[in-house]
Amino acid sequence: MPDRHRPHAHYSPPHGWVNDPNGLVFDGRHYHLFAQHNPHGDTWGNMSWSHAVSEDLVHWQERPVALWCDEHDMVFSGSAIVLDDGRMLAAYTSHREGRQTQSLALSEDGDVWRRFEGNPVLDLGMADFRDPKLFRVPFSRSLRMAVALPTERTVRFYASDGDLANWEQTGEFTVEGAKGIWECPDLVELAGPDGPRWMLTVSNEGGCDAYVGEFDGATFRPDRPFAQRLDHGPDFYAFQTWNHARRPGLGVAWMSNWKYAHATPTNGWRGAMTIPRELSLAVDEGTLVVTQSVAEAVLCRRTRLFDLRNADARLIGGLFGVQDLSQGAVFLEASMQLADCPSVTLNLQFGDADTVPITLEGLKGTVRLDRRRSGPAIHPEFPGVYKGPLQTREGGVDLMVVIDRCSVEVLADGGRTTLTALVFPRSDRLSVSVEAPGGTCMAKSVAVSRIEAGDGAPGRKVFDLDA
Ligand code: FRU
Repeated sequence: MPDRHRPHAHYSPPHGWVNDPNGLVFDGRHYHLFAQHNPHGDTWGNMSWSHAVSEDLVHWQERPVALWCDEHDMVFSGSAIVLDDGRMLAAYTSHREGRQTQSLALSEDGDVWRRFEGNPVLDLGMADFRDPKLFRVPFSRSLRMAVALPTERTVRFYASDGDLANWEQTGEFTVEGAKGIWECPDLVELAGPDGPRWMLTVSNEGGCDAYVGEFDGATFRPDRPFAQRLDHGPDFYAFQTWNHARRPGLGVAWMSNWKYAHATPTNGWRGAMTIPRELSLAVDEGTLVVTQSVAEAVLCRRTRLFDLRNADARLIGGLFGVQDLSQGAVFLEASMQLADCPSVTLNLQFGDADTVPITLEGLKGTVRLDRRRSGPAIHPEFPGVYKGPLQTREGGVDLMVVIDRCSVEVLADGGRTTLTALVFPRSDRLSVSVEAPGGTCMAKSVAVSRIEAGDGAPGRKVFDLDA
């Protein structure tokens, strides 16, 4: 089977399986991306940490497996941080049947890891206790860790003052009436319009929930007792932010869903990350909301194909022509004036057979992505229509759509609403048409750009380990 679905601008493993991003850390030059990985096959199992590094968040160089499972434990999700002495510290969950504990490992270079002698550093004797996220708080030297108690829908906070074997609980966070199970917590301080604010995210029920609030050094208190869904598509899970990123809030999520993650039609590898995104805070009617944009480093890599200004949006189709997705990923940015149009649909057409309509409905206040006809139904749970809230601003909506060989990501309304969906179309030939039944939709501005496959390498990957 040809490697038809390998993305260009998204991280995917050269071979084997990946799920959650782990250990995201920036060391001043390289972005490290570890991931839940099966080195021996393209299904979940033998959970270990893969490792890749990048300077631009687009080109990834695969490094050797960082943390292998052993005969006792699998290495479940976790995080990494750079210590004051320059070493990297990873925290992960040691998983065995009926027992999950938190363990540490240390590395000088990110490639060679030594497990900490004092492991496990946290053991509550519980079957479900996982996914430690290391973080720091300003003006404090101690290391912090947020860990999930999934079935209790609780995140516990711990601190260590230098002695890595010793972690004291400082607080915990839960929400009354919360559903599902909570996994993969992440906590980061973001710049807000009125000063910094903390964002706590937890993954549950096939997506991620974000709470904005205060971390007082001991515990987290949300401004509101309910969450903002970070992404309204089906394929955004286990979101994590990079520790020490120049702009806090830079992160990725696993671009799949446990419901059908094993059925994706890839070739010897399985699983990919979303496009790296930068999360920020904006104020909407007095309330802080999380917004997302494609990471600046990724945007810098684009080549502009064309621009259009103040034209009937239907003209986008003709100018767009046919883009060959085997040659790169496509970015479509548009600022549309919905005016009198009850709905505007942007049809992504892949060859003759497959299509993914993205529909904006100003009055209803929704944006929809429909992947029911995006390709073969790979699993009964795969086809679907996904909907997120959409607010028009003076009748207008801005949109960024990122299309790669197995995904469509929509960021609408300044990134207040995003939808991420895998698609497996039968053709790489992408065209676009715009329909606005019952009105005329004006495009105030449209820009189409690509990240080219180029560089003579297959896709954007560099797989040699010694380069
Ligand atoms: C989330 C998750 C984590 C766990 C890992 C195992 O997708 O279930 O909670 O650590 O996957 O691979």
